Amino acid sequence: MTLYMEAGFLLRKLGGCGFMVKVARSSDYKTKYSDIFDLPMLQEVVDRLAENLGMALLVTDVEGVPVTRMSNLCRFCTLINRSEEGRRRCADARVKDTGLVVKTMQDELCMCYAGLVHIVVPIELHELPLAVLIGGNIILEMPEKEGIYKLADELGIDPGELWAAVGEIPVWERNELYERVRLFSTVATVVSRLFYERYQLQQMVTLNRRITSSLNVEAVCSRTVYAAGEMIRAKHCILRLFDEEKQELIVKALYGLTEELTAGEVVLSLPGTVQELVLRTGEPFVAKETASGGITRNGFLDDEGIHALLIVPLSVRDKVIGTLETYFITPRDITGWDASIILTIARQAAAAIENARNFENQRSYYLAALQAMVAASEAKDLYTRGHSLRVAQYADTMVRLMGRPEEEAEEIYIAGLLHDIGKIGIREEILLKPSRLTPEERREVETHPLVGAKILEPANFPPGVILAVRHHHENIGGDGYPDRLEKDQICLGARILRVADAFDAMTSNRPYRRSMPAKRAVSELQRCAGTQFDEEVVRVFLKAMEKEKCRVLKSGEEGPLLDVLMNALSVISSLRIIEPQMGRKKIV
Ligand SMILES: [Fe+2]
Repeated sequence: MTLYMEAGFLLRKLGGCGFMVKVARSSDYKTKYSDIFDLPMLQEVVDRLAENLGMALLVTDVEGVPVTRMSNLCRFCTLINRSEEGRRRCADARVKDTGLVVKTMQDELCMCYAGLVHIVVPIELHELPLAVLIGGNIILEMPEKEGIYKLADELGIDPGELWAAVGEIPVWERNELYERVRLFSTVATVVSRLFYERYQLQQMVTLNRRITSSLNVEAVCSRTVYAAGEMIRAKHCILRLFDEEKQELIVKALYGLTEELTAGEVVLSLPGTVQELVLRTGEPFVAKETASGGITRNGFLDDEGIHALLIVPLSVRDKVIGTLETYFITPRDITGWDASIILTIARQAAAAIENARNFENQRSYYLAALQAMVAASEAKDLYTRGHSLRVAQYADTMVRLMGRPEEEAEEIYIAGLLHDIGKIGIREEILLKPSRLTPEERREVETHPLVGAKILEPANFPPGVILAVRHHHENIGGDGYPDRLEKDQICLGARILRVADAFDAMTSNRPYRRSMPAKRAVSELQRCAGTQFDEEVVRVFLKAMEKEKCRVLKSGEEGPLLDVLMNALSVISSLRIIEPQMGRKKIV
C-alpha cells in the first residue's frame, strides 16, 4: 500500500519552476466527451435505463447536440418530431436547457413548449461539464385540450391523434419527480466515472506504448506530463529530473502553464522543498486542501490558487530520478483512483526515461567513436582536418530544414562523418600532392567513395549510410563517379552531401590551392545547380547557412567557420532565395 505524506501545515516550500524547457502545455483540456464515452456502450446504458424508468432519454454534448439516439420516445413526441417545425422547436428547447445546466452545473427541471417536463442534469468530471443527460415524456397535470389542438394546428399534425397521444403520457407527482432527479444525478455521476476510468486505462496503455517506443528523453517527458494532465484533469503538471551531481531538480516538461506564469529559474534548489522530501523518502506527497496553508506561497503557483496537489517520485530500481507533480485548483481528495493513475504513469515514465537515457548515452559513445575514427583518418592530412564533421553538420542542418524523419537525419549525419573514410586507402603522396594530379592519380582518388562503402558494408551500417557514402561524388547531370548516376537515381543523402562537401572543400585550403571566399563558393554552387548539384538541395543549403550561423554563434565556437558563414551570408542576403518546395518529388 502506498504511503502518503500529507501536507496542509508543512513549513516546507513548494518549488516553483522556470521556463526555457520543452513544454507540453495546455490550459484548456483537449479531452472531449467523444474521447471518453464509448458511444455504442453509452447508447445501451441509455436504452436500458429509459426502458426501466418508462421515460425518454437522451445524452447531448454541452451544446445540446445529441450524442445518443433518443430512447423510448413517447407517441406524443414522435408525432411532434414528424413535423419540421416541431423538430426545430424541440432542438431549440434542447439547446436552451443544456446551455442552462452547463452554465449553472445544477440539475434542472425544464418544461418544453409542448408542456412536457424534462429532467436535465450535467454529466461532469471534476466540475467540468462533459455532456448532458435529458430525461422526459412526463407531465405534472393533464394539459387543456384546446392548447393541444392549437399546437397540432401550428405544427400541421392531426389534432385528434395528438390529443389521443397525450393520454399515454405518464402524469407524475412532484415528489416522484424530485426522486427521479436524484436518481438521474446519480446515474450521471456513475456514467461519467465509469467511462472516465475506462478512458484513463485506455490512455495509460496508449501512453505506455508511446513512451516505451521513444528513445528521446525530452519526448518521453513531454508526452508524460501531457497525458497525466489530461488523464486526471489537473490544472498543471510538472516533470522534473534530478541532477545527482548538482543535487538539483531540473524542469523537463510542463502542462497547463504559460510562459508568463513560469518565468524564472528552471532549476530547483532542493533544500527545504517538498520535492526534497519526495526525493529523500521515495514516497508520494499529497495536499488535499492548501487554501489556508503556506504550501503554495511560493513561485508561480501562488497566483493560480492551487488547492490540492500530488507529487510522486519517478523511481527506477529503488532509485528516485525525479518527480511528477500534479496541481489542482479545487480541493480534491487525490489519494484514491487518481493517485493510482499518477503513480502508474510515473512508474512507466521513469522506466522509459531510463531507457531513453541509456540509448542516448550509447548513441553519444557511438558518435564519439565514429568521430575519433574520422579524426584519425583525417590526421595525416592537415588540410582536411575537421572537414567531415563540418560536412556532417551542414548536412544535418539541411535535413532538418527539409523536415525529414529523425531516422533518415541520423543516417545522413553519420554518412556525412564517414563520407571520405575511403581515403584511408589512398597514398599520402597523392592526397598531399601540392600540384595537379595525373590522370592515373585522379583515378586512384576517385576510388574513395567505393572503398568507403566497402569498408562500411561488413560493419553493418544502415543501407542509407552506405549508399550516401558511395554516391557522394555523383553529379545530378550524370557525369559524376563511381556509378555515373543522375537525378533521382542518387539518394537524397548523397545529393545533400555533394553540396555540403563541395562548399566545405571550396572554402578550405588545399595543398594545391588556397581557399576561395565563401561568397564565390556560393556563386559556384548556384552556377552548377542542375548540372553538378541538385537545384533544390542548393536552395536548402543557402537557407541552412543562416541556421548554421546561429548555431555557431550560440555554441561560442567562433573562428574560421563563422567567418566563412558570414562571408557566404553577405552574398546570400542579396540573392533572391526561392523557398524550397518540400512536397515536390525531387527532394524526397
Ligand atoms: Fe569525397
